[in-house]
Amino acid sequence: MTRLSGKVALISGTGGGQGRVAALRFAREGTTVVGCDAFVEGHEETKRLLRAEGFELYGAAPVDLGDPMQAQAWIENAAAEHGQIDIFYNNASSAKFAPIAEMSIEDWRSTMRNEIDLIFYTTKYAWKYLVQRKGVVINISSTAAWGGSKIAGIAAHSAAKGAVVSFTRQLAVEGAPVGIRAVSISLGFVTTPGTRAFMENPAARKALLDGVLMDRPGESDEIVAMALFVASDESSFMTGSDIVIDGGLLAI
Ligand SMILES: NC(=O)c1ccc[n+]([C@@H]2O[C@H](COP(=O)([O-])OP(=O)(O)OC[C@H]3O[C@@H](n4cnc5c(N)ncnc54)[C@H](O)[C@@H]3O)[C@@H](O)[C@H]2O)c1
Repeated sequence: MTRLSGKVALISGTGGGQGRVAALRFAREGTTVVGCDAFVEGHEETKRLLRAEGFELYGAAPVDLGDPMQAQAWIENAAAEHGQIDIFYNNASSAKFAPIAEMSIEDWRSTMRNEIDLIFYTTKYAWKYLVQRKGVVINISSTAAWGGSKIAGIAAHSAAKGAVVSFTRQLAVEGAPVGIRAVSISLGFVTTPGTRAFMENPAARKALLDGVLMDRPGESDEIVAMALFVASDESSFMTGSDIVIDGGLLAI
């Protein structure tokens, strides 16, 4: 028995950096993992990596969670196939960046669609299944929810990730009477296949790590380790919290 044996976890964004690591680590903990991503090849690669360890990645790709009907279909198919949803890990997102005066209306709306709207859709449609299992919602936010950036135009991203934190608090309020817990995780810069190039560029690395006490980016495993704890009964008294994992960025 492992600590999440018998649980069914829906993890969004399994075609990417942290979602892929989450799919692997939740599977190793005994969880049935149902993923999805807009990026088909990435999701298929994650499926291949799980199979190489003797696990299965269920779910589908492409799924665009910014479309409420696709979000609903992913969840209903998962519930029909596996009979339960215990853990909902809202990991997928994508943002557009630009200084406020230069940000287009389309890019603002795209960021809201792909960073906060999708979490509303998935949580809304999964809620009745989470009630049945007294489940857990884990929402991935960012230190952008808590502070600005001098090097990138993060207004839309900050607004959306701030909304992830406050949305999570309300999920905790509505979830407590029905046994659902909800926690957000606000992470600082984390190395993924998509962000590795920035770390290999000395000027970008210096700028992005400015203020990070540990003077290094985080690794996906360091975030997923916390998500595993939040998903498990070991965190049974935790709800409504936002957990910052940022190498000390917000400490100064
Ligand atoms: N990497 C970092 O430095 C960092 C920092 C702070 C917060 N985060 C957050 O961590 C989470 C995981 O990001 P990551 O670093 O693994 O990035 P990533 O880009 O590697 O992975 C995100 C995945 O989400 C998918 N996705 C985006 N929009 C989608 C949609 N509408 N429907 C379906 N799939 C969609 C993408 O295709 C991608 O595979 C995100 O919520 C991100 O905002 C990352």
